[in-house]
Amino acid sequence: MTQVTLSGLTKIFDEKSPPAVDQLDLEIESGKLTALLGPSGCGKTTTMKMIAGLLRPTSGDISFDGDSILSIPPEDRGAVMVFQNYLLFPYMTIAENIGFGLKMRKVDRMEIRTRVTDMLDLVQLPGFEDRKPRQLSGGQQQRIALARALIVQPNVLLLDEPLSNLDAHLRDEMRELIRRIQTEMGITTVFVTHDQEEAVVLADRIALLFDGRLQQFDVPDAFFESPQSVEIAKFFGGTNFIPGHYEGGEITTSIGRFRAPRSAVGGGDAVLSIRPEAVTLGADGGNSVMGRIRSHVYVGRYARFRVTLGDIEVEAITDPGQVKLFNDGDEVPVTFDSNKIWVIGPASSSVE
Ligand SMILES: Nc1ncnc2c1ncn2[C@@H]1O[C@H](COP(=O)(O)OP(=O)(O)OP(=O)(O)O)[C@@H](O)[C@H]1O
Ligand SMILES: [Mg+2]
Repeated sequence: MTQVTLSGLTKIFDEKSPPAVDQLDLEIESGKLTALLGPSGCGKTTTMKMIAGLLRPTSGDISFDGDSILSIPPEDRGAVMVFQNYLLFPYMTIAENIGFGLKMRKVDRMEIRTRVTDMLDLVQLPGFEDRKPRQLSGGQQQRIALARALIVQPNVLLLDEPLSNLDAHLRDEMRELIRRIQTEMGITTVFVTHDQEEAVVLADRIALLFDGRLQQFDVPDAFFESPQSVEIAKFFGGTNFIPGHYEGGEITTSIGRFRAPRSAVGGGDAVLSIRPEAVTLGADGGNSVMGRIRSHVYVGRYARFRVTLGDIEVEAITDPGQVKLFNDGDEVPVTFDSNKIWVIGPASSSVE
């Protein structure tokens, strides 16, 4: 197992543009799956290529188990990368594709054959040895690309958006397969995605990047419960924001004052954030204000209400039965569960 450490890792392609990767510090835990998450162009592939040795960093360091690997050539690093567009060699059979890395390492032909068979079993495609890539579906080719990477028994597996070409059903299956293999083999894995749901489902930890800079490195639920900025909370979606002033565990906003013991900031200008599931309608208690229902939809498993509170509007997701209790235009008490309010610093103007 291998611990991967990035320190001050920076890549500048072009002096006139901002760095593609900017002073990235990251401890990628041994044997765990870490997701590198962020919007298109934020530097995910660039980071992976530097770890794999396919791109030289402009500055900073990468170490495996405490030793810098910058001077070690890619083939000797023990890291393999599966690319965004998982190209298989079209004229080779599946067995030749999977065995390619071992052939390069001059492994005995009989041993290659045995290990290819084992790999095909592992990715649940037994008997596919003699087919050509074009005779496989997209999902099957994806699994072959994974098998081709795993057969060399890497210490570090780098998967660059491996599921982006698959439909939703196959993607779920592949996620489970990758998770199972990764856990069984205990292989240190970095998984790139721009899909926050995929990161949450798969990862032990998520590193969120915007514009080449690390925003937050945390366990998945922390991005919902305690995002460190408004931009991060927005990236994870579905949150209400109300600007205010925070002091002594209370936030004062244009619609009232709320108890809010949980916060990312000490005090001053701040934003109250609360997820729609933590907004309740109809129960008058602490942390309540009167609102007016503007619209609602019944979604089956839940109901979604839009409620006007003074000059702002919030979304509430409730038990579906509540559509029978409230009509559009009704005045209702709206309660924010104080333990689910999370106070964040004001939005920075640089990222939207
Ligand atoms: N070889 C290159 N030369 C110049 N600029 C590059 C090069 N490769 C990437 N970039 C730039 O670096 C930035 C980061 O690119 P990168 O491919 O790492 O993004 P990404 O996060 O993988 O995006 P995506 O989700 O679209 O794959 C982008 O602005 C991109 O245009
Ligand atoms: Mg990319």
